Amino acid sequence: MNQKKIILTGDRPTGPLHIGHYVGSLQNRVALQHEYNQFVMIADVQALTDNAENPEKVRDNVLQVALDYLAVGIDPQVTTIFIQSMVPEIAELTMFFLNLVTVARLQRNPTVKDEIRQKGFEESVPAGFLCYPVSQAADITIFKANIVPVGADQVPVLEQTVELVRSFNRIYGQILVEPQAVVPKEGCGRLPGLDGQAKMGKSLGNAIFLSDSADLVTKKIMGMFTDPDHLRVEDPGKIEGNMVFAYLDVFDQDKERVAELKAHYQRGGLGDVKVKRHLNDIMQAFLTPIRERRAQFAQDPDSVTSMLKTGTEKARQVAAQTMGEVRRAMKINYF
Ligand code: TRP
Repeated sequence: MNQKKIILTGDRPTGPLHIGHYVGSLQNRVALQHEYNQFVMIADVQALTDNAENPEKVRDNVLQVALDYLAVGIDPQVTTIFIQSMVPEIAELTMFFLNLVTVARLQRNPTVKDEIRQKGFEESVPAGFLCYPVSQAADITIFKANIVPVGADQVPVLEQTVELVRSFNRIYGQILVEPQAVVPKEGCGRLPGLDGQAKMGKSLGNAIFLSDSADLVTKKIMGMFTDPDHLRVEDPGKIEGNMVFAYLDVFDQDKERVAELKAHYQRGGLGDVKVKRHLNDIMQAFLTPIRERRAQFAQDPDSVTSMLKTGTEKARQVAAQTMGEVRRAMKINYF
């Protein structure tokens, strides 16, 4: 018997992953993978809820996301990495969950509301998109996950999962497990964008991707938002809202040196270019081994596909087991 607690997380394959994903979740997955029974899902079905007309984009990014996972050290020997659409039991459970939620409740989910606004869907929101929290509840509960590490924006989605589990278990019996959302501590886990926006986003043009070339990383760092009023080197500069220091806080392990640089910058006499060069050294040291591992895996896409196939087969077995229990509980196990 495997007594380890179960973690399930996932990413929509709509683009390669960036250093914000690393700070917010990937590094935790690497750290937790031995202690927990961890499932990591490439959520292609969820990606299609707002990309129905871009199947190539979703397909291509399944491989890109898998490469990012392997590059940062998520180990397929201990973590089950799988593709959502290839576990059709999840879609089956979604159908049954849909009977336990009202349209009004779906429309009230604040995360979905925000996303509808951001994506400009307004009156033309796809039904599948409106229902993605229900499908996500199926992702989670079919694996009886105890813990779901997510960004703070996903908390309302997890609340809906818990409601669905309670309704299901009240009506059909204690089959499903209530999951707990684990959100990064305040201040940690969210890396701002290169431009100083609160969030680093795939589509915001303010990200450093794990797959970016060394030159591109340098170019992005040299263009980062600092203190717009720091015009001459001799002038005192501001740390607050200065992305170069925000990133040094996260990535430079030598905290004393960071403190010295900050003091010097605030006093005046330290130029932006110099601090940026230092950040560039730190980021290259962090990203180079990731990029090299990624390139190695990318040379052999067949072995990545075969890793995904193995993970998906394992995930499917677990999902099928839960669906057996669900069908019995719902009295639809005819033969
Ligand atoms: N909605 C999540 C996101 O956009 C991705 C996701 C899909 C997920 N299924 C999940 C996260 C299940 C955690 C658990 O980031």
